[in-house]
Amino acid sequence: MIIESPLNLIFRDLFYRLPAFAGGHDVFLKLEGFNVTGSIKIKTAIELVEDLERQGIARTRETVLVESSSGNLGLSLSLVCAIKGYEFICVTDPNANWSAIRGIELYGGKVIMVEERDPANGYLGVRLKKIAEILQADPNAVWLNQYANLANKNAHVKQTANEIAREFDQVDWIFVGTGTTGTLTGVSEGLRAKFPGVKVVAVEPVGSVTFGGASTKRNIPGIGTSVRPKLADLARPDRVIEVSEEKTVEACLAFVRDYHLLVGGSTGTVLAAIQQLAQEFRSGETIVAISPDLGEKYLDTVYDPIWVDQLIRSEDTKDSPDAGREQPYALVASG
Ligand SMILES: Cc1ncc(COP(=O)(O)O)c(C=O)c1O
Repeated sequence: MIIESPLNLIFRDLFYRLPAFAGGHDVFLKLEGFNVTGSIKIKTAIELVEDLERQGIARTRETVLVESSSGNLGLSLSLVCAIKGYEFICVTDPNANWSAIRGIELYGGKVIMVEERDPANGYLGVRLKKIAEILQADPNAVWLNQYANLANKNAHVKQTANEIAREFDQVDWIFVGTGTTGTLTGVSEGLRAKFPGVKVVAVEPVGSVTFGGASTKRNIPGIGTSVRPKLADLARPDRVIEVSEEKTVEACLAFVRDYHLLVGGSTGTVLAAIQQLAQEFRSGETIVAISPDLGEKYLDTVYDPIWVDQLIRSEDTKDSPDAGREQPYALVASG
């Protein structure tokens, strides 16, 4: 294989079959962590930038692209911007992982770290305020706004959903962890067009507000929100499953032990949710889940027992009566 650009390193047909993973049913895990920059977010980054170029909003060597990210999108955008010739500013917070931040800087992006939490006990509100300040100060600055930008969703309609549909004759269940809900919204739109009966399961960490959950402090980056993203208005999951961070850690550790692949935190959250619904799967159904990234960058968080003891087991995010319950999504959706 000879590549002409790092952006050719997107592996679209990589599915890990997990025999009898949930109640005797096989699960197919779509692995996105082998893509360049290490996550599914490279697809989003390319689509966000190219969408602005198609609209004539982004101009090489003039436009400064700005985004809020806890790591993966920021890293992907910094690579895309380096290749295309844009200046890039990433606004992030202390939950972001260090290697992503270093990577952003090495690709030439600028990192701004906010320190204080917002009233919902997360950082997103403060990150968004910082972006507003940057946009006001620099007329060439353009915010990509992954939380509301339809190009985020469309990346997954055009790419991720089609990649799944090409691989399977039928898809009965699709499990997607949610941050901006871009993956969830795009994959469900694309898959429902091909498989109208597919059941779409949104997987949330306890403490995320996206589908009406009560806000609590969360520690694992990439998944969940403290401010409901606008894109979530378009998300129509059939089910929303909440998973505690403690269950996420257990699922990650069990997966390394049993399936010998170090997966990222949001993948562990999705795997825990699949096992929670195992009794509902029928014989012959095809169950697919998305693994947005791999685990190496979580060695000092999810996979560090001291970090887990200090930040997860000792805190209010630990298993509560609410953990693992299903959100009353129908009520939220009609509100
Ligand atoms: C590791 C990881 N998992 C899941 C997600 C959630 O994806 P989305 O923003 O499309 O909802 C992200 C988003 O950054 C992520 O980095």
